[in-house]
Amino acid sequence: MLLYCVRMINLIFIQFILLKSATITVYCLQKQYLKDINSHHMYRIRLRIDSTREDFLEWNKKFDKFLQISFKQPYSFGSPLKYCPEVLVFIIPNRTQISGVLMAQYRDKNKNLDDNFYICFLSVLPEYRKFGLASTLLNAIIQEAYDTDVQKVSLNVNIKNGEALRLYRKCGFLCSKYESNFYPPSQYDESDAYYMTLLTKYIRVPSLVCKTTQALVIPTEMKTASTAVCVKRTVVTINKFH
Ligand SMILES: CC(C)(COP(=O)(O)OP(=O)(O)OC[C@H]1O[C@@H](n2cnc3c(N)ncnc32)[C@H](O)[C@@H]1OP(=O)(O)O)[C@@H](O)C(=O)NCCC(=O)NCCS
Repeated sequence: MLLYCVRMINLIFIQFILLKSATITVYCLQKQYLKDINSHHMYRIRLRIDSTREDFLEWNKKFDKFLQISFKQPYSFGSPLKYCPEVLVFIIPNRTQISGVLMAQYRDKNKNLDDNFYICFLSVLPEYRKFGLASTLLNAIIQEAYDTDVQKVSLNVNIKNGEALRLYRKCGFLCSKYESNFYPPSQYDESDAYYMTLLTKYIRVPSLVCKTTQALVIPTEMKTASTAVCVKRTVVTINKFH
């Protein structure tokens, strides 16, 4: 009986430890300088689970605020860093202000998903647009996918977001799915999205992606198929009484 009680106490103690360790999530951020463009400093911010969480909370708040301003959305994006921990960021020199950010998530084929970097957010503050910041951020994540043998880079974009669409097409992304009602009501007055992908097998010169079309060789049939899939499905209603 005594032995049984000791065993039970042991078991409860182990369960308590396991439960406690399962509920504690702590984070550590690595900040690595990459390069400068138009005097903005580019960094990679990497989230690691196993250290203190102050940095994480601070950066998460910064990114949330940045996204609200640059996307002109009044609501919070929640915990963007938690879901999209692959971050490339531009910071304005001599100030701590963020000028542009790309936040991505690695989607693992072991979890029944395609092996890819999914770009959750790409945004630049209005006053720093058209300096090539977004192209550089995109080029960097594409290059990383290429270097690490990740099959593709993917994203969703509002079908009315002309600026972003032009940029993604320039970088070689093709629409591979039309997704109705993807977004909540937004500034575009449109909730449908294109799901766009860039397969790394089409890359010839990674450093030149987003700079010249010769950096990629995409088969014509892929382009044709993409156009067919992504034509907006317009519902034509014929009014019988006119
Ligand atoms: C879409 C967005 C990210 C583009 O950012 P950006 O930093 O302005 O993008 P880039 O500067 O790399 O490229 C944009 C244009 O500027 C041009 N450009 C780049 N460097 C330039 C320079 N030095 N001088 C003049 N033009 C330049 C590019 O050629 C490109 O022009 P094009 O569209 O005619 O080809 C930005 O408009 C944005 O943040 N929008 C709001 C958020 C958003 O909608 N994000 C996308 C969600 S899916």
